[in-house]
Amino acid sequence: MQLNDLVSSNSVEKDAWTAIENSILYYRGRPIGTLAASDVTIEALNYDQCFVRDFVSSALIFLSKGRTDIVRNFLEETLRLQPKERQLNAYMPGRGLMPASFKVVCDGEEEYLEPDFGEHAIARVTPVDSCLWWVLLLRAYVVATRDFSLAYQPDFQHGLRLIMELCLATRFDMYPTLLVPDGACMIDRRMGIFGHPLEIQALFFAALRAARELLVCQGNEDIVTAIDNRLPLLQTHIRQHYWMDLHRLNKIYRFKSEEYGKAAANPFNVYADSLPYYELDKWLPRKGGYLVGNVGPSQLDTRFFALANMMAIVSDLTSEDQSQAIMNLIEERWEDLVGDMPMKICFPALENEEYKIVTGCDPKNIPWSYHNGGSWPVLLWLLSAAAVKTNRIDLAHRAVEIAETRLHEDEWPEYYDGKKGRLTGKQARKYQTWTIAGFLLAKELLRNPRFLPLVSFGSFSVEPASRACEFEIVETNTLYFG
Ligand code: GLC
Repeated sequence: MQLNDLVSSNSVEKDAWTAIENSILYYRGRPIGTLAASDVTIEALNYDQCFVRDFVSSALIFLSKGRTDIVRNFLEETLRLQPKERQLNAYMPGRGLMPASFKVVCDGEEEYLEPDFGEHAIARVTPVDSCLWWVLLLRAYVVATRDFSLAYQPDFQHGLRLIMELCLATRFDMYPTLLVPDGACMIDRRMGIFGHPLEIQALFFAALRAARELLVCQGNEDIVTAIDNRLPLLQTHIRQHYWMDLHRLNKIYRFKSEEYGKAAANPFNVYADSLPYYELDKWLPRKGGYLVGNVGPSQLDTRFFALANMMAIVSDLTSEDQSQAIMNLIEERWEDLVGDMPMKICFPALENEEYKIVTGCDPKNIPWSYHNGGSWPVLLWLLSAAAVKTNRIDLAHRAVEIAETRLHEDEWPEYYDGKKGRLTGKQARKYQTWTIAGFLLAKELLRNPRFLPLVSFGSFSVEPASRACEFEIVETNTLYFG
């Protein structure tokens, strides 16, 4: 099918499709992904590579248009890049990890793929989210094509299993959440989101649900049991300990500290002085709430992170009431969270001493810029998906309208700066692919809410089949957290 047949008459959308088409990466003659950005005016660094997390936005819009070949090729090729053996050298990527990005390298007549698992990336950050996105994309492919055979192939089952082993392995930890280093996700810089950041937990929850549906083969019973044990604990933990609204703020405000034992009302020993109570008291609408950014020992990071909150809604990590409360918050605090460009990656920005200490004086992450309170158009599709899921599509329509007037004219920037998102990001790439794909996907989701199940688990669900595949998993010496 030609893309030209698919596009609507809308000229902005037409241009967006042309830009997406131009960003496609070919490998041995086959389309296998999209470049992060196609901006020739700035040094490419690694923006001329295909990022796993970035490609998901492109992939979903391709799937919605029936263009499944590129997604399938991507899934197959990235699966080949996943390390399958235990690594003896600690600098090498662990078994099961998926790369942050990859590029096509030409060696004479030969082409090969070179992955980056963080060993080249600025600050050597670990892309924990890549393997989670990969599982979600594999499920989206199955939902779109209704073809289980790819996911049932032994190599895919094995890859899924390795990812689950990485996620569910016994660790130095006592929570059902996933313990990760800083910058392990879309925010791939030091931003105080190490430990148990919501940005990872929401993806983790969704990926566990997706893997639960896709892992059906003989020999995976132990993993399936581990997932079944983990999912309810993770969901309850997040709904309880990450939730913030006026009621909860009141409770935390009057928390006692230094409680020992199981009956503690303040199990993480959060100290009152560490929370911006009075700002939150002003900011929280009566009927609004959200999941906080991080919870750990004497730590409650009250920043609002958009991707995770939207993903929590879409994947049912939040309860129905909580999901509605998050949408209420977005509506009531529209100027802060959406402003002139949907939407803030996190809110509020870290400022002054806090900015210096937490980011390490990162000049790219100065207050209200880039990851530190910048506005990222790619989040538009997640906002739209959450709006469709909660039946609040008026909010998504408003957001898309705001974005539409500027994105095309500004040549699809990667991000915007400023409290209201009025400044094109200081170092933003133009023709950033996930900005373009995010916009198209948001429009598509509003036009055709039937595409929501590509990422949601509500009404339509890929049923675990009882079919058995003809392969056996050999070694299982990992213990699982129940
Ligand atoms: C930046 C972003 C990251 C993105 C990459 C490619 O590093 O922080 O989330 O994947 O650019 O667009």
